[in-house]
Amino acid sequence: MDHKALAEAAVKARQNAYVPYSRLRVGAALLTESGKVYTGVNVENVSFGATGCAERTAIFSAVADGNTKFKAIAVASDLDTPIFPCGICRQVIAEFRIPEIIVSDKNGNYKVYKLEELLPFAFTEF
Ligand code: THU
Repeated sequence: MDHKALAEAAVKARQNAYVPYSRLRVGAALLTESGKVYTGVNVENVSFGATGCAERTAIFSAVADGNTKFKAIAVASDLDTPIFPCGICRQVIAEFRIPEIIVSDKNGNYKVYKLEELLPFAFTEF
C-alpha cells in the first residue's frame, strides 16, 4: 500500500463520520508494519469535548486489535485543502512513533510529512 492508496482510503473512510455538529467529515487510514489498514472517523458528541478525532479512532482501533507498529497514517476531510492532525492526535501519533503523516484534501491530493516536522521536540518519555 503506497501513500496515494492510503490517502484514498482516508478519503473513503470519511463517509462514516458521525458529525451532526461541525458537519466536517474526517477520515483516517492507518497502515501497520504488517500491511494491514485500519480506518477511523471523527465521532462527535453533543458535549463537544467528548468528540473523538478520526486519527485517534483509527489508532485506538488498531491497538485494540493487537497492533502497535505502524508505517504511516493518512487523514482527509471534506475540505478542498489538506487537513492536519490536531495537537492531541499529534501526541498520540508520537506515542506510537508513526513516522509518516499523509495529509489529503477531499479528492485524495496529498502531501507527506515526517513526524518530526509536525511535532518537533515531542514529549515521548520520562
Ligand atoms: N477533527 C478530526 O477528526 N481530525 C483532525 O485532525 C482535526 C479535527 C474533527 C474533530 C471534529 O469532529 C471536527 O473535525 C471539527 O473540529
